[in-house]
Amino acid sequence: MRLTVPRSGRTPATIELERGDITLLPVDAIVNAANSALAGGGGVDGAIHRAAGPGLMAELRSRYRGCPAGSAVITASGRLAEHGVGWVVHAVGPIWQDGRSGEEGLLRSAYQTALHLADEAGARSIAFPAISCGVYGYPLDPAARVALRSVGDGLASARTVEGAVFVLLDGRAFEAFRQVMADLSGGTRATPARRTPPRP
Ligand code: APR
Repeated sequence: MRLTVPRSGRTPATIELERGDITLLPVDAIVNAANSALAGGGGVDGAIHRAAGPGLMAELRSRYRGCPAGSAVITASGRLAEHGVGWVVHAVGPIWQDGRSGEEGLLRSAYQTALHLADEAGARSIAFPAISCGVYGYPLDPAARVALRSVGDGLASARTVEGAVFVLLDGRAFEAFRQVMADLSGGTRATPARRTPPRP
């Protein structure tokens, strides 16, 4: 499923949805859902560190002293470079409290900072997970709205990034994003999920 983002005087940017494992995508930049200690963990963070190898943590430790919620840092991609990935952007989403503790602004800022860092680095394509939608407990429907709007707004003014894909591992997350994307595009462009092909 695909959403088109108009850009004045330039070819439109696109946002796509896929089901699958984000570490298998041959995009220029992969976004990680990290914690503010940048200490690694489970979920998509664990999957990205396993796929990239120990060089990813070594670079994080040598260059950064953590990252606050709502922000992001960028590193090289370790072994993911073998599949064409140039950068990993480690974005820290908010931990869901009650919805009245600044979560929406922090989630928006995490997406927009991640996109901005990839754009500054020169990436043309970027893949996002559903930041904060796992261990951090952000409800799927509002998270999907924030994610798609933030990335759509960022793409409208991005310099090099022209394609973003949200890679959703589980069916509930995919369905929430699909519904919001259908709403944003007038409900006319629902197409079936594309599955991530296995890595050769
Ligand atoms: N590819 C794509 N999506 C994935 C993958 C994967 N390989 N693995 C998990 N996910 C999905 C989850 O299903 C969830 O929808 O990513 C989404 C985000 O979930 P988490 O990884 O738990 O991230 P988050 O909620 O932001 O919590 C961050 O979890 O692992 C720790 O170190 C991390 O402390 C940090 C916290």
